Amino acid sequence: MATRNYQTVKVEKENGITWVILNRPEKRNAMSPQLHYDMLDAICELETDNETQVMVLTGAGDSWCAGQDLRDFFRALDNNPAERRKAGWASQEWRWRRLFTFPKPTIAMVNGYCFGGAFTPLIACDFAIAAEDAVFGLSEVNWGIFPGGLVSRVLVDAMCYRDALYYIMTGDSFDGKKAAEMKLVNFAVPRAKLKEETIKLASKLMEKNPHTLRAAKEVYKTCRTMDYWQAEEYMAAKGVALRATDPLRGREEGTRQFLDEKTYRPGFGSYSKRKA
Ligand code: COA
Repeated sequence: MATRNYQTVKVEKENGITWVILNRPEKRNAMSPQLHYDMLDAICELETDNETQVMVLTGAGDSWCAGQDLRDFFRALDNNPAERRKAGWASQEWRWRRLFTFPKPTIAMVNGYCFGGAFTPLIACDFAIAAEDAVFGLSEVNWGIFPGGLVSRVLVDAMCYRDALYYIMTGDSFDGKKAAEMKLVNFAVPRAKLKEETIKLASKLMEKNPHTLRAAKEVYKTCRTMDYWQAEEYMAAKGVALRATDPLRGREEGTRQFLDEKTYRPGFGSYSKRKA
């Protein structure tokens, strides 16, 4: 599938990995209305793009994303309720719903500044890897506002109560190492190794059955807000659905390789996929 061109986003595809790059480096990739429209379009397109096995979200230049654009998203829309509603909707839709439910694995590769509204896509991604010297900040309190949009809500999923309130209320920034220590990101690596480590993780994910991976993340993410009885019912139904629809017949194949062929042991990696 041809890659579309956008004003504020670059999409690059290589060996199954699609790199979605926020591309306003001169504004530290702050999110303008146009960036929200571009990102919504790009993500919707990639959801069903066969070349995309893993999606990596990163930023051009030395910044991942400096949050909402204070000029173009906030001040410029103060007296334009129609555009505010349109941009606000697009902003929430891609940063949370579409990204959180993206049908393939997603990795936030945090290459630099990550402020305010950028925490929503950071947390929506399945994985996050940061440069050790990346700079994170819930800076809103310094602007006379609080972490809005969905930020305060999604922080509940990704930071512990004490850490979240500490950074929400002090507005202090922290680096990639601290983000890893708090488990806001999976791990932090020296900047020179960031891309290499991201590709390593993406490659590991691409060895797995993509249908199983999709179901696994959907089940985990959806069950978080269910009670035990609902979760049990939902997982039972989802298991049947996966078994019925998986074109790779992963469950039968893995079991056969373990029990009959004795060519595979689950403790040591994935079973060999066969063509659908
Ligand atoms: N909204 C609008 N413009 C922003 C922006 C934002 N969130 N973040 C950066 N920019 C713009 C700056 O205004 C500047 O524009 P200009 O060249 O027209 O003056 C340009 O990006 C470069 O920013 P600058 O501050 O000179 O770069 P820096 O590398 O020294 O610092 C940051 C980078 C990210 C630390 C700093 O820009 C910053 O603190 N930004 C605000 C981040 C924030 O609090 N975001 C949450 C918003 S709720």
